[in-house]
Amino acid sequence: MSERVSFGSRMGAVFAAAGSAVGLGNVWRFPYETGNHGGAAFILVYLGCVFIFGLPIMIAEFTIGRRSKACTGGAYSMLAPGTPWRWVGYLGVLTGFLILGYYSVVSGWTLEYIWQALTGGFSGKTSGDYVAMFQDFSQHPFRPLVWLLAILLITHFVVVKGVKDGIEKSSKIMMPLLFVLVILLAVCSVSLPGAEKGLEFLLKPDFSKLTPDVFLGAMGQAFFSLSLGMGCLSTYASYFGSKTNLGKTAMGVGLIDTFVAVLSGLIIFPAAFSVGIQPDAGPSLIFITLPNVFQQAFAGIPVLAYVCSVAFYVLLALAAITSTISLHEVSTAFLHEKFHFTRSRAAVLVTSGCMLVGIVSSLALGEWSAFKICGMNIFDALDFLTAKIMLPVGGMFAAVFVGWYLDKKIVRGEVTNYGLLKAPYYPIYVCILRFVAPIGILLIFVNELGLLG
Ligand code: PFF
Repeated sequence: MSERVSFGSRMGAVFAAAGSAVGLGNVWRFPYETGNHGGAAFILVYLGCVFIFGLPIMIAEFTIGRRSKACTGGAYSMLAPGTPWRWVGYLGVLTGFLILGYYSVVSGWTLEYIWQALTGGFSGKTSGDYVAMFQDFSQHPFRPLVWLLAILLITHFVVVKGVKDGIEKSSKIMMPLLFVLVILLAVCSVSLPGAEKGLEFLLKPDFSKLTPDVFLGAMGQAFFSLSLGMGCLSTYASYFGSKTNLGKTAMGVGLIDTFVAVLSGLIIFPAAFSVGIQPDAGPSLIFITLPNVFQQAFAGIPVLAYVCSVAFYVLLALAAITSTISLHEVSTAFLHEKFHFTRSRAAVLVTSGCMLVGIVSSLALGEWSAFKICGMNIFDALDFLTAKIMLPVGGMFAAVFVGWYLDKKIVRGEVTNYGLLKAPYYPIYVCILRFVAPIGILLIFVNELGLLG
């Protein structure tokens, strides 16, 4: 058991898990979901989902991973041999694979925007130009595919290089840098003329906007943003050392992740209102708003506009890559551990499969946009299916597994490091896993289907 590779330090574990959690979900998806669902009221429900479902389920996934010392695909079979629980692990692997497919497309967009920033493509343009620029690019049949391939190859390389050198080191450098830049940009955005309307949208809840969709959207966003519900963090936890404090790590990851999401909102909305971009612009929101922020906030100092825009997209790409790495790792570790492929062969299979899913998702925004499933193009349908259904279902099963199935000596042992730590939150934690999370998640599904009231 002890031969398994592990993160080099406890902080390394926090950084790697936070690296997985903080990504496009915070900077790209959180603002557009907030915009689509009416602003502040959505954020309140989101925060509720993070603290009520998210943190306990994260500790549960850590428990499953560290105890089994196996990737998610194998962890359930290891802890509950011969039972159907193994299907929950397989569901997680499938979910991660699908997410990686379309997530890599958006990660690829960040590379195009680095290129644009470097070559001065943002200067001297109007808001309308940025919209046209994004549409031309994202609907182009080939250009996004080149960047998609680039992202998948970078991810592939880091995953093959392994856990300690690849994943841990890269996260340790990138996370603090991203933090600093996000704070700086939020300050710039809030000081733009007309930014107050954006702040109001973000901070003043209108409870009449609380529809069932808001609850489903906020729950899906919480799972997506925290990398929960598909065994990603349980796979990482299988590399945790025996001294890692699971509760503290979960709290650290949850706080960092929420902080970056809220700050991203503070960057996007004041700027969007300031330049007259609709907050419900959807997936294009950050790609049309941010170039505006750079040009307007630093209008008199073009060098600063240039440096900040390059730095921002570089860090966004890096944040995306620490997440694509974690998504890739779930499928690679599964193929490696379950079917005994070498890690590099497993990684080749995953990269190739994701390239196919990515190509389909990318074309769905352009050439194939007329093809719809339940009124959504394939890109949106994949996002809906994975984030709003598969992740919450996976999270619910993880809660039930640890809350009801797993031996309580193990459950308590993992959060207290077998007696070395106090975990005063233990009774609340178990109560949430047993009742609050599964019932809450089910109610949100039932509510969405219109079966409540
Ligand atoms: N949490 C990542 C983000 O917010 O960008 C996305 C993600 C990574 C989702 C890993 C799920 C996952 F397992």
